Amino acid sequence: MEQIGEKLFKYKDHNFFLWPVNEEYIDSLQTFEIRDSDVFLVTYPKSGTIWTQQIIISICELDGGLNEFPNNCQQMRWLENKMKEEDYSLRPSPRLFTSHLPPRFMPPGLKDKKTKIIYVMQNPKDIVVSYFHFSQSVTTWDTPKSFEAFLEQYLAGNVGGSSWFDHIRAWYLNRDQYNILFLTYEDMILDLKGAVTKICRFLGKNLSDKGIDQVVEKATFKNMKKDSKANYESFRRDLGIGDFMRKGQIGDWKNMFTVAQSERVNRMLQEKLGDTGLKFIWE
Ligand code: A3P
Repeated sequence: MEQIGEKLFKYKDHNFFLWPVNEEYIDSLQTFEIRDSDVFLVTYPKSGTIWTQQIIISICELDGGLNEFPNNCQQMRWLENKMKEEDYSLRPSPRLFTSHLPPRFMPPGLKDKKTKIIYVMQNPKDIVVSYFHFSQSVTTWDTPKSFEAFLEQYLAGNVGGSSWFDHIRAWYLNRDQYNILFLTYEDMILDLKGAVTKICRFLGKNLSDKGIDQVVEKATFKNMKKDSKANYESFRRDLGIGDFMRKGQIGDWKNMFTVAQSERVNRMLQEKLGDTGLKFIWE
């Protein structure tokens, strides 16, 4: 593993964050035993990960049978960040995992199409703005010198999670190999109840309308911001990280991007993902 930033490592052409990660463990994911009842949430960083965690966890809690953990961070561990003290094979079912990994690092058993994967994506302009503010808030990371410099880094894939374009492309083009639900952050913003209902159906959970409303209520920006189980309070304190819950809106990129920067991203989007037919919502 090659160190490429204050808290960033490159391994097999992918950039990993510092958080407990090592080569052997990443390689061991190739023999990681998944269960049909596992649920995986996969995202590129800053795409609405902790929001979707809250939705998935709330649905499973209401459905019953979920084991209790002190907070969402512990309930839905990052697959790639092995916690020393924990052996995931000892966790009772149903196990919930989160990951920022591209498909090539994921357990091959997922291709049996039994285990469910929820993939959430967000437009690349809002992501880089969120990522920029987040990176500035992490006291132990290299602080981006300017938005302009960070945008260059991001477009070149020189950030944790590597290239947004590659991440989306790899997951989207390989979607037929998995039992996967694609959602966008923008869909969730525009119709949270619709998104919760979709996730609920995909997970095969039969919540009543009242149950769905309860999940929606727990997942609003306002409520999550004050919910210490969901807002990563203790994790952020331990690692010196600012707020995950910053603005929670579509279109904040307009406050940061120049016209030239926006056009450049449009061109890259066309070049790199134009053939996929994917469309994004910008405001
Ligand atoms: P902003 O920085 O644009 O506000 P991740 O969890 O992948 O790091 O994503 C963080 C982004 O999701 C942040 O975006 C955060 O505000 C947003 N987010 C988290 N919870 C949310 C919620 N309940 N509603 C809307 N946005 C939410």
